[in-house]
Amino acid sequence: MTTVTCIADLRALARRRVPRAFFDYADSGSYQEETLRANRSDLEAIKLRQRVLVDVSTRSLATTIMGQKVAAPLILAPVGLTGMQHGDGEILAAQAAEEAGIPYTLSTMSICSIEDVAAETRTPFWFQLYVIKDRSFSKDILERALAARCNTLVLTVDLQVLGQRHRDIRNGMTVPPEIRIRNIIDIASKPAWAFSILKGKRKTFGNLAGHVKGMENVNQLAQWTAQQFDPALSWKDVEWIKKIWPGKLVIKGILDPEDAKTAAKLGADAIVVSNHGGRQLDGAPSSISALPKVADAVGNDVEVLFDGGIRTGADILRALALGARACMIGRAYVYGLGAMGKVGVAKAIEFLEKELDVAMALTGTNYIAEIGHHILADTAGIAAAAPAPAKKPSAPRTRKKTAE
Ligand code: GLV
Repeated sequence: MTTVTCIADLRALARRRVPRAFFDYADSGSYQEETLRANRSDLEAIKLRQRVLVDVSTRSLATTIMGQKVAAPLILAPVGLTGMQHGDGEILAAQAAEEAGIPYTLSTMSICSIEDVAAETRTPFWFQLYVIKDRSFSKDILERALAARCNTLVLTVDLQVLGQRHRDIRNGMTVPPEIRIRNIIDIASKPAWAFSILKGKRKTFGNLAGHVKGMENVNQLAQWTAQQFDPALSWKDVEWIKKIWPGKLVIKGILDPEDAKTAAKLGADAIVVSNHGGRQLDGAPSSISALPKVADAVGNDVEVLFDGGIRTGADILRALALGARACMIGRAYVYGLGAMGKVGVAKAIEFLEKELDVAMALTGTNYIAEIGHHILADTAGIAAAAPAPAKKPSAPRTRKKTAE
């Protein structure tokens, strides 16, 4: 049995266990994946300020998100098709989050339905909405979410048009998987995955099947998005949702300070600084580079959540230092789910929490509320501050020959 000690290990294991089309679906970014890479490289470029001989014996990761007590500044993000990484994936992830004392967000594009997840959990979970052209579907699904005790709505606003993920097209990614020889061979070599899916409650989009006309024949996310998502969605729709949704409202997919201010003005309780994990506008800035300006623009008017590239506890610390109240993780837990089911999600959460705890200790921090800009190392002037290279002994002067 392979030893897994970090998110990267879970990813490697998931890659072996999950059929390629679904692993790639979660792993990919759009187009050239420039923004996907920038999410990681910009996080890694931020250095933490090591402090010593500070009493850090009372450390705690506990905090609140929109007034809700949480064990750590961490939320499981909405991820489409989670139940294709492992049978009943949404239920397992929601249960792992519940046991860890952090919120779980169910995607509109999930395999298990809202009702399936509600039946298998006790703590209220968050629900993520894509607004489609048929507004009555949105109204109905919000009523279903309320009936299922969801207390927080995450409205995703950066995917009215789908950014192309080249790997999905190459893999012919469909739900359930397309019967292609290559797919059959791939699935046959992943028996544990196939067994979990066969045992699972559902094989298609659980929130939509039976609720949206024509859904029976839609098995491609891209096709569904192009047909049903409404490119005319605007801030007016946010006002409409505010009227019909009595719980907390989180607007996800904000990168620009002006948009952040509008979201706050319209009464959002939180925003998520996000470029959809580098899956939408390729060429958009990394989430972490957008975070400080957004946090600055909204001040205390709205809570600022963050996602985009979190793979370690140090990454969470970096985002909190730059103004986030908590981080959402998507791929990080999905790799865990694909690797080891519910145990893998629990491990992903545990790895990040332990790493965050150690990073806090080594930066001299006991509490989440203490985290601020001061825990970042000032490395901006590295090149300028570098000692000048030692002078080479100068060559003995030779007399210039003068022309005679
Ligand atoms: C859907 O949210 C996706 O990014 O595929």
